[in-house]
Parts: sequence; structure tokens; C-alpha cells
Amino acid sequence: MRNPQEYYNTHSQGYVQKWDLSPEGLKRPRNYYRLKIIESIIKLASIKPGERVIEVGCGTGLVLREVLKITKPIYGTDISSEMLQRVKDSVLKDKKVSIVNDLSEPNPGSDVLLAQDDLLKSKLPHKFFDKVLSMEVLRYNDDLPRCLGNIHAIMKEGGIFVFTVTNLFSFSLFPIKYSLRKLFNKIDQDKELVQYFVTERSIRKELSRANFSMIAFERTGLLLSNQFIGQLVEKLSKIPILNHFSDTFIIAAQAS
Ligand SMILES: C[S@@+](CC[C@H](N)C(=O)[O-])C[C@H]1O[C@@H](n2cnc3c(N)ncnc32)[C@H](O)[C@@H]1O
Repeated sequence: MRNPQEYYNTHSQGYVQKWDLSPEGLKRPRNYYRLKIIESIIKLASIKPGERVIEVGCGTGLVLREVLKITKPIYGTDISSEMLQRVKDSVLKDKKVSIVNDLSEPNPGSDVLLAQDDLLKSKLPHKFFDKVLSMEVLRYNDDLPRCLGNIHAIMKEGGIFVFTVTNLFSFSLFPIKYSLRKLFNKIDQDKELVQYFVTERSIRKELSRANFSMIAFERTGLLLSNQFIGQLVEKLSKIPILNHFSDTFIIAAQAS
């Protein structure tokens, strides 16, 4: 299996079902947590009506759906054509969604413009976007410097990039266990996605190398979204050492 394109082409329907963010779906803690992350991303991006906003690796359009409440048209790319189809026929089926070859060509009347694009070999227009978002995408790509370089290239100077990455030292221990399995060649690439994790230090260094300046650095985790445990974890997370173990970093960085 070629990761992640084939994986997501095969699992796009399951993804729509898994991440049901309707009032019913939001009763599940992990879905509620997902929505909270989306809200944080959008808040950090401080999107204004009329700005050109893209999500790279937009999947089925969960983030796009929220951005569309602020501005339109909005833009999305994904390596998987099936995920883009799910934006059109599932998550944003009530909107005018167009899948095009070139996002820089005007397309009057569309709410959402989508293009298939691999972030690692991106063909997107340069210096075009005010805001770039990316949720749960960098963890599936083995070349972080290239991803950051390609994102920087499509941004206008002073534009803002808001994204999530997964902490190697997460409370959940999943990244550590996974990395050990990878080290000992125990990942079944036919069934699992290959994943890559960061440390706070490594992501700060890579951002600076790619000519981004950090604006905000938030740490979050599934436990934080639980209203009972959340308060306790929030208090605990004020203890500096515990901060190092959050699951996900949500980062805003400005392109210079
Ligand atoms: C976990 S899903 C997240 C989708 C969406 N951002 C969301 O939060 O629901 C990861 C997505 O990233 C896409 N993806 C992974 N690597 C990519 C790459 N190199 N270029 C473009 N998309 C990529 C996958 O196809 C998939 O749709």
C-alpha cells in the first residue's frame, strides 16, 4: 500500500462515519475533542472575510466546513481524490464544491475549490494564500522540511500557517510505542499508515529553518476535552514538566 494516498482512498467512507461532528456524533469524547481542535486552529488563524484560506490535506472537509462560516470561497487540497469526493458528496454536500486542476483560476459561484495535490510535490500557486491550515497531516509525511518549505512557498509574505503535529512524548504513549515498533520493523504497511512524530524542540527548529516565526504554541490532549478530567489536567498542565506530555501541538507561525 502506498501511504497515505491509497490508505485514504480506501478508507474515505469510514472516515466520514468515524468523524461525525453532528450533535449526535459530538457525544463521543474524541469527536468533541476534534471539534475543539478545529475551533482552536480557526481562532489562531484569525481569519477575516475576503482572505484566501486553504487547508492542505483537507480530507473530508471538517475544517473547511467551519472556515466557510467566515469567508468564501475557500480552498482545499488532498493527496487522496476519494477524500475530496467526500467533501463534495458528504460533509459539504449542501455547498457548491468544485474540484479543479488550478486553484489560481477564478471560479465564480463556488463556495469551495478543491484540487488534488501532494504536499511533498506541491504544484500550488506561489505567494497566493493569506492563511494556510493543516490538521493531522504532517504526521503522515516523512519529510517535514520539504512540507514546510512547500507551504511557505504558497503563502503571501506575512501570511499565517496554523497546523497540528503530534508529540512524540504524548501522555497516550502511542507515539513512543509506535516509534519502537517502527524501529524494530513491526509496522504492517499493508494495514497501517506510517507515522512521524515531533518533539517541541524539533518542530520549533524546523519552523525557524523554513523561515517561519512562531506566533502561538498550544498544547492539547484528549483528556483536556473531558469536562470532568479536563479541569484537573488543565491544572496539572500548568506544571511545566507535565506540559511536555500533551498529545498534540497546535501551532501558529508567520511566513517571513
Ligand atoms: C487524518 S486525515 C485529516 C483530514 C482533515 N485535515 C481533518 O482534520 O479531518 C489526513 C489527511 O491528510 C492527507 N494527506 C496526507 N499526506 C498528504 C500529502 N502529502 N499531501 C496532501 N494530503 C495529504 C490524507 O489523504 C488525509 O486526507
